[in-house]
Amino acid sequence: MNKILVTEKIAEKGIEALKASGMHVDVELGIERDKLLTIIKNYDAIVVRSVTKINEEFYQHATNLKVVGRAGNGVDNIDMEGATKRGIIVVNTPEANTVSAAEHTIGLLIASCRNIPQANTFIKNRNWDRSGFKGVELLGKTLGVIGLGRIGSLVATRMQSFGMKVIAYDPYITDERFEKFGVEKKEKLEDLVKEADFITVHTPKTEETLGMIGEKEFKAAKKGVRVVNCARGGIISEDGLVWGIKEGIVASAGIDVLVDEPNTTSPLLDLDNVIITPHLGADTVEAQNNVGVTIAHEVISALKGEMVPNA
Ligand code: NAD
Ligand code: MLT
Repeated sequence: MNKILVTEKIAEKGIEALKASGMHVDVELGIERDKLLTIIKNYDAIVVRSVTKINEEFYQHATNLKVVGRAGNGVDNIDMEGATKRGIIVVNTPEANTVSAAEHTIGLLIASCRNIPQANTFIKNRNWDRSGFKGVELLGKTLGVIGLGRIGSLVATRMQSFGMKVIAYDPYITDERFEKFGVEKKEKLEDLVKEADFITVHTPKTEETLGMIGEKEFKAAKKGVRVVNCARGGIISEDGLVWGIKEGIVASAGIDVLVDEPNTTSPLLDLDNVIITPHLGADTVEAQNNVGVTIAHEVISALKGEMVPNA
């Protein structure tokens, strides 16, 4: 009988779907790395989110592994080459949480430019004062979207309803895609950076995108630019952002993802005009049910040797 190990929380419906297949399912949330490396040889499949590192060290211990199920979108915690080399199938759920990630991005954008979390903390500490929380409107402002894929395009179209002009930089898509979403194409990143009042990043984490917004870009940006990163930690460089804020160039930042996660020591946590959520972009009832059920079906299909859409 195939054995499946789940190391990060997925929706109960997903666990039920895994068990309904008749395969053996163990759930070991937050398992210590050493224990994971010891027991993984007993499993045919593993289901993870973004915290479990599926790397060379892991593969060396995972001698019977056939399938890695990534319950979510980004596969930057998975060594894809290592999997391919060993014939291990990696499946993910790229469509299942895009709406939630887009909505969280917009939540961060609005909350950060209106100081909502800061004001909430202030009044909950039994203070009432309206000075110090003045924000800015979105109407008539320019939003720069970096990466006009699934989530970037959802953010772009939704923000147009706030009266924002949307420009985007994405060298890997057709002109028709920019037109389809009513977005002005920027050929160069620096053109977007110079023009945008708000910048939001929606690329995967790659060698090319890591740190693509940093000190150099903030030097070229408008004073008072506001940024959001609900994609992957480090696409907006953390050091660069600290610098931009201290220099008074970046007026606010909404951050959902950090380079090292979990993380309670980032210097960004000490900055008043940075609001941070602990990687909650996909944490909605709907997205988690979608992700959980989808990954369960994909892992089962892959173990049975059937066709899998996101392999
Ligand atoms: P996607 O693949 O649909 O879109 C990514 C886009 O980025 C593509 O259009 C691609 O052409 C573009 N791109 C790639 N390299 C680029 C570069 N160097 N410069 C500009 N554009 C570039 O991805 P998606 O589903 O929209 O996901 C976007 C990001 O959001 C990913 O990093 C994903 O991991 C992350 N994500 C985060 C959460 C969360 O919980 N915070 C949830 C879901 C997804
Ligand atoms: C994703 O890539 O799907 C997100 O980071 C959300 C998650 O992993 O839960």
